[in-house]
Amino acid sequence: RPSPVIAPSILSADFARLGEDTAKALAAGGDWVHFDVMDNHYVPNLTMGPMVLKALRDFGIGAPIDVHLMVKPVDRIVPDFAKAGASSISFHPEASEHVDRTIGLIHESGCQAGLVLNPATPLNWLDHVLGKLDLVLVMSVNPGFGGQRFIPEALNKLRAVRRRIDESGRAIRLEVDGGVGPDNIAAIAAAGADTFVAGSAIFGAPDYAQVIRAMREGIAQ
Ligand code: DX5
Ligand code: ZN
Repeated sequence: RPSPVIAPSILSADFARLGEDTAKALAAGGDWVHFDVMDNHYVPNLTMGPMVLKALRDFGIGAPIDVHLMVKPVDRIVPDFAKAGASSISFHPEASEHVDRTIGLIHESGCQAGLVLNPATPLNWLDHVLGKLDLVLVMSVNPGFGGQRFIPEALNKLRAVRRRIDESGRAIRLEVDGGVGPDNIAAIAAAGADTFVAGSAIFGAPDYAQVIRAMREGIAQ
Protein backbone atom coordinates (compact mmCIF):
# COMPACT_ATOMS: atom_id res chain seq x y z
CA ARG A 1 0.00 0.00 0.00
CA PRO A 2 1.36 3.47 -0.86
CA SER A 3 2.62 5.54 2.07
CA PRO A 4 0.05 8.00 3.48
CA VAL A 5 -0.25 11.41 1.89
CA ILE A 6 -1.92 14.48 3.37
CA ALA A 7 -3.12 16.95 0.75
CA PRO A 8 -4.20 20.35 2.07
CA SER A 9 -7.03 21.67 -0.10
CA ILE A 10 -6.23 25.28 -0.93
CA LEU A 11 -9.92 25.91 -1.59
CA SER A 12 -9.92 26.98 2.06
CA ALA A 13 -6.66 28.96 1.85
CA ASP A 14 -6.44 32.76 1.89
CA PHE A 15 -6.89 33.53 -1.83
CA ALA A 16 -5.44 37.01 -1.40
CA ARG A 17 -2.19 35.42 -0.20
CA LEU A 18 -2.43 32.10 -2.02
CA GLY A 19 1.29 31.49 -2.58
CA GLU A 20 2.28 32.23 1.01
CA ASP A 21 -0.61 30.27 2.50
CA THR A 22 0.07 27.25 0.27
CA ALA A 23 3.77 27.30 1.20
CA LYS A 24 2.77 27.55 4.86
CA ALA A 25 0.59 24.40 4.64
CA LEU A 26 3.48 22.52 3.01
CA ALA A 27 5.98 23.75 5.58
CA ALA A 28 3.53 22.57 8.24
CA GLY A 29 3.80 19.00 6.90
CA GLY A 30 1.42 18.82 3.94
CA ASP A 31 2.64 16.44 1.20
CA TRP A 32 0.59 17.47 -1.84
CA VAL A 33 -1.40 20.54 -2.80
CA HIS A 34 -5.03 19.68 -3.56
CA PHE A 35 -6.28 22.08 -6.24
CA ASP A 36 -10.06 22.27 -6.67
CA VAL A 37 -11.29 23.48 -10.05
CA MET A 38 -14.98 24.44 -10.21
CA ASP A 39 -16.76 25.83 -13.27
CA ASN A 40 -20.24 27.00 -12.13
CA HIS A 41 -21.67 24.37 -14.49
CA TYR A 42 -20.76 20.89 -13.29
CA VAL A 43 -20.82 22.26 -9.72
CA PRO A 44 -22.47 25.46 -8.47
CA ASN A 45 -19.27 27.31 -7.59
CA LEU A 46 -16.38 28.96 -9.41
CA THR A 47 -12.74 28.75 -8.33
CA MET A 48 -9.45 28.75 -10.20
CA GLY A 49 -7.93 27.71 -13.50
CA PRO A 50 -4.54 26.86 -15.04
CA MET A 51 -3.25 30.45 -14.68
CA VAL A 52 -3.50 30.21 -10.91
CA LEU A 53 -1.74 26.85 -10.88
CA LYS A 54 1.06 28.27 -13.04
CA ALA A 55 1.34 31.24 -10.67
CA LEU A 56 1.86 28.85 -7.74
CA ARG A 57 4.65 27.05 -9.67
CA ASP A 58 6.25 30.41 -10.53
CA PHE A 59 5.99 31.39 -6.88
CA GLY A 60 8.13 28.33 -6.07
CA ILE A 61 5.64 25.67 -4.99
CA GLY A 62 7.47 22.45 -5.87
CA ALA A 63 5.24 19.84 -4.18
CA PRO A 64 2.96 17.62 -6.26
CA ILE A 65 -0.17 19.53 -7.28
CA ASP A 66 -3.22 17.29 -7.29
CA VAL A 67 -5.81 18.81 -9.61
CA HIS A 68 -9.44 17.90 -8.90
CA LEU A 69 -11.49 18.89 -11.93
CA MET A 70 -15.14 19.62 -11.18
CA VAL A 71 -15.76 20.84 -14.73
CA LYS A 72 -17.78 19.79 -17.76
CA PRO A 73 -16.58 19.16 -20.40
CA VAL A 74 -13.25 17.77 -19.16
CA ASP A 75 -10.97 17.11 -22.13
CA ARG A 76 -10.47 20.63 -23.46
CA ILE A 77 -8.90 21.88 -20.24
CA VAL A 78 -6.63 18.88 -19.47
CA PRO A 79 -3.56 19.91 -21.56
CA ASP A 80 -3.71 23.44 -20.10
CA PHE A 81 -3.47 22.11 -16.55
CA ALA A 82 -0.65 19.75 -17.53
CA LYS A 83 1.28 22.63 -19.11
CA ALA A 84 0.66 24.79 -16.06
CA GLY A 85 2.41 22.20 -13.87
CA ALA A 86 -0.20 19.73 -12.59
CA SER A 87 1.12 16.42 -11.24
CA SER A 88 -2.13 14.45 -11.16
CA ILE A 89 -5.48 15.25 -12.74
CA SER A 90 -8.70 13.67 -11.52
CA PHE A 91 -12.14 14.04 -13.09
CA HIS A 92 -15.74 13.00 -12.56
CA PRO A 93 -16.83 10.30 -15.04
CA GLU A 94 -20.31 11.82 -15.41
CA ALA A 95 -18.64 14.98 -16.76
CA SER A 96 -16.74 13.22 -19.56
CA GLU A 97 -18.25 11.88 -22.79
CA HIS A 98 -15.51 9.23 -23.09
CA VAL A 99 -13.93 8.23 -19.81
CA ASP A 100 -11.26 5.96 -21.28
CA ARG A 101 -10.23 8.66 -23.77
CA THR A 102 -9.93 11.26 -21.00
CA ILE A 103 -7.70 8.96 -18.97
CA GLY A 104 -5.49 8.49 -22.03
CA LEU A 105 -5.37 12.23 -22.61
CA ILE A 106 -4.24 12.88 -19.03
CA HIS A 107 -1.46 10.30 -19.41
CA GLU A 108 -0.37 11.68 -22.80
CA SER A 109 -0.16 15.10 -21.14
CA GLY A 110 2.35 13.62 -18.69
CA CYS A 111 0.17 13.52 -15.57
CA GLN A 112 -1.18 10.81 -13.30
CA ALA A 113 -4.86 10.09 -13.85
CA GLY A 114 -7.62 9.78 -11.28
CA LEU A 115 -11.34 9.05 -11.37
CA VAL A 116 -13.61 10.74 -8.83
CA LEU A 117 -16.70 9.04 -7.41
CA ASN A 118 -19.42 11.28 -5.98
CA PRO A 119 -21.37 10.02 -2.95
CA ALA A 120 -24.09 8.55 -5.22
CA THR A 121 -21.80 7.41 -8.06
CA PRO A 122 -21.68 3.61 -8.34
CA LEU A 123 -18.41 1.69 -8.34
CA ASN A 124 -19.05 0.16 -11.74
CA TRP A 125 -17.49 3.25 -13.31
CA LEU A 126 -14.22 1.55 -12.31
CA ASP A 127 -14.99 -1.52 -14.45
CA HIS A 128 -12.66 -1.78 -17.45
CA VAL A 129 -10.58 1.30 -16.54
CA LEU A 130 -9.23 0.58 -13.05
CA GLY A 131 -6.08 -0.91 -14.58
CA LYS A 132 -5.31 2.44 -16.21
CA LEU A 133 -5.85 4.64 -13.17
CA ASP A 134 -3.21 5.98 -10.82
CA LEU A 135 -5.74 7.05 -8.21
CA VAL A 136 -9.36 6.75 -7.24
CA LEU A 137 -10.85 9.70 -5.37
CA VAL A 138 -13.86 8.96 -3.19
CA MET A 139 -15.92 12.06 -2.41
CA SER A 140 -17.19 12.08 1.16
CA VAL A 141 -19.27 15.22 0.52
CA ASN A 142 -21.14 16.43 -2.56
CA PRO A 143 -18.64 18.44 -4.59
CA GLY A 144 -18.78 22.23 -4.78
CA PHE A 145 -17.90 23.62 -1.37
CA GLY A 146 -15.43 23.28 1.46
CA GLY A 147 -16.46 22.93 5.07
CA GLN A 148 -19.22 20.32 4.66
CA ARG A 149 -19.84 17.38 6.95
CA PHE A 150 -18.33 13.95 6.15
CA ILE A 151 -21.00 11.54 4.81
CA PRO A 152 -20.56 8.32 6.87
CA GLU A 153 -21.61 6.03 3.98
CA ALA A 154 -18.29 7.00 2.36
CA LEU A 155 -16.60 4.54 4.74
CA ASN A 156 -18.43 1.61 3.08
CA LYS A 157 -17.49 2.98 -0.31
CA LEU A 158 -13.83 3.27 0.69
CA ARG A 159 -13.82 -0.34 1.90
CA ALA A 160 -15.34 -1.51 -1.39
CA VAL A 161 -12.87 0.47 -3.52
CA ARG A 162 -10.00 -0.74 -1.33
CA ARG A 163 -11.02 -4.31 -2.13
CA ARG A 164 -11.12 -3.55 -5.86
CA ILE A 165 -7.69 -1.93 -5.73
CA ASP A 166 -6.17 -4.80 -3.76
CA GLU A 167 -7.63 -7.31 -6.23
CA SER A 168 -6.07 -5.33 -9.10
CA GLY A 169 -2.62 -5.85 -7.59
CA ARG A 170 -1.61 -2.33 -8.65
CA ALA A 171 -0.39 0.50 -6.41
CA ILE A 172 -3.40 2.73 -7.09
CA ARG A 173 -3.89 5.48 -4.54
CA LEU A 174 -7.20 5.68 -2.70
CA GLU A 175 -7.91 9.31 -1.95
CA VAL A 176 -10.73 10.73 0.16
CA ASP A 177 -12.07 14.29 -0.09
CA GLY A 178 -14.58 16.15 2.05
CA GLY A 179 -15.08 16.65 5.76
CA VAL A 180 -11.81 14.93 6.70
CA GLY A 181 -10.00 15.97 9.88
CA PRO A 182 -8.22 14.75 13.01
CA ASP A 183 -11.47 13.49 14.58
CA ASN A 184 -12.46 11.04 11.84
CA ILE A 185 -9.22 10.26 10.02
CA ALA A 186 -8.49 7.06 12.00
CA ALA A 187 -11.78 5.48 10.83
CA ILE A 188 -11.18 6.72 7.29
CA ALA A 189 -7.68 5.23 7.20
CA ALA A 190 -9.02 1.97 8.64
CA ALA A 191 -11.52 1.86 5.76
CA GLY A 192 -8.58 1.84 3.34
CA ALA A 193 -7.81 5.40 2.29
CA ASP A 194 -4.12 6.31 1.91
CA THR A 195 -4.40 9.88 0.55
CA PHE A 196 -6.28 12.43 2.63
CA VAL A 197 -7.56 15.80 1.42
CA ALA A 198 -8.36 18.35 4.10
CA GLY A 199 -9.34 21.96 3.50
CA SER A 200 -11.20 23.65 6.33
CA ALA A 201 -9.69 21.36 8.99
CA ILE A 202 -6.20 22.68 8.15
CA PHE A 203 -6.74 26.23 6.88
CA GLY A 204 -9.44 26.95 9.45
CA ALA A 205 -7.08 26.19 12.34
CA PRO A 206 -4.62 28.64 13.91
CA ASP A 207 -1.78 26.09 13.80
CA TYR A 208 -1.64 24.08 10.55
CA ALA A 209 1.24 21.91 11.79
CA GLN A 210 -0.69 20.83 14.84
CA VAL A 211 -3.66 19.68 12.73
CA ILE A 212 -1.44 17.82 10.27
CA ARG A 213 0.41 16.14 13.15
CA ALA A 214 -2.91 15.08 14.69
CA MET A 215 -4.00 13.70 11.31
CA ARG A 216 -0.80 11.65 11.01
CA GLU A 217 -1.32 10.26 14.50
CA GLY A 218 -4.87 9.27 13.55
CA ILE A 219 -3.65 7.52 10.39
CA ALA A 220 -1.06 5.56 12.40
CA GLN A 221 -3.65 4.36 14.96
C1 DX5 B 1 -15.17 19.98 -2.38
C2 DX5 B 1 -13.71 19.91 -2.68
C3 DX5 B 1 -12.85 19.60 -1.52
C4 DX5 B 1 -12.90 20.65 -0.42
C5 DX5 B 1 -12.80 19.90 0.86
O1 DX5 B 1 -15.89 19.96 -3.57
O2 DX5 B 1 -13.46 18.90 -3.64
O3 DX5 B 1 -11.50 19.36 -1.90
O4 DX5 B 1 -11.87 21.58 -0.46
O5 DX5 B 1 -12.95 20.80 1.90
P1 DX5 B 1 -13.14 20.30 3.39
O6 DX5 B 1 -11.92 19.54 3.79
O7 DX5 B 1 -13.32 21.58 4.14
O8 DX5 B 1 -14.38 19.42 3.42
ZN1 ZN C 1 -11.37 18.33 -4.03
